[in-house]
Amino acid sequence: MLRSMEDATNGAVAGSSLPGWQWDATLFQGCAAYYERGRLPYPPGLEAALTAALALDGRGRLLDTGCGPGTVALRLAPRFAAVVGLDADRDMLEVAAARAAERGIASVTWVCRRAEELPAGLGRFRVVTFAASFHWMEREWVAAAVRGMLEPGGAVVQISGTEATAPPGTLPYPPPPAAAMQALVRRYLGPERRAGQGVLRHGTPDDEPAVMARVGFGPPEIVTVSGGQVLARSIDDIVAAVLSHSSSAPHLFGSRLPAFEAELRALLGAAAAGGRFAQQLGDTELRIWRR
Ligand SMILES: C[S@@+](CC[C@H](N)C(=O)[O-])C[C@H]1O[C@@H](n2cnc3c(N)ncnc32)[C@H](O)[C@@H]1O
Repeated sequence: MLRSMEDATNGAVAGSSLPGWQWDATLFQGCAAYYERGRLPYPPGLEAALTAALALDGRGRLLDTGCGPGTVALRLAPRFAAVVGLDADRDMLEVAAARAAERGIASVTWVCRRAEELPAGLGRFRVVTFAASFHWMEREWVAAAVRGMLEPGGAVVQISGTEATAPPGTLPYPPPPAAAMQALVRRYLGPERRAGQGVLRHGTPDDEPAVMARVGFGPPEIVTVSGGQVLARSIDDIVAAVLSHSSSAPHLFGSRLPAFEAELRALLGAAAAGGRFAQQLGDTELRIWRR
């Protein structure tokens, strides 16, 4: 059960600024169950890097916007007096709340709302994070809202992780066969990238500094958290990774989901003896805008 969750509203909010695409509530439908297992973690240095950059001292409040299953909110919870994890997907928040309970973390409140509904009476924050989530939002609208929610001296942080491309033969197991996996997804879902009920013809945007400038922020300070860690991954992990993405979310396959999963497992089994893969964490970039 969620310790605390407000109801998502169906009231009028801004749409999406992505041309030809409209946000809808099925964007990550069904992904929550696969997310934690499937996604590569942010590097272990994330907490220390943010603590140093923002002089975190256990005081103040964090708002993690588009928090998913609590990926960043739970890692940063010990660095703040209180945390709000906000996400539009109720299932993500159910997973986040369960993970918080398992870890005995009681300082996080989970709020089911679209970011476009901010400030939503949530109060003031020392830090607002967007980890792999800002690009899904009506960015200028949301950036203006969170700017008004920051304490004096507060900061907005965009967190972007990557996967490294290790030179061939340097990892203990083969990397997942990305091109073949993508071809399989396309065979089931069509050639265009799916997202919710629509298709994303032009991908997602990445010009955040310009967006933030338009709502009154200066240029961002960039902090790089080094990756490099190599993780062994099972077939179950890679299947979970595929089903954790909006572009191959379980609901998109409908009744063909079992057939897709069986083909994916066969493909992965043929690609690696013993069904073991390796992936290397890339660097994670923190873009920090101070008020
Ligand atoms: C790729 S996941 C990132 C989750 C987590 N922050 C992380 O780094 O692992 C993106 C999350 O943003 C949420 N999201 C997408 N659009 C949103 C919106 N407009 N308002 C609130 N949450 C949104 C999704 O439901 C999803 O949980």
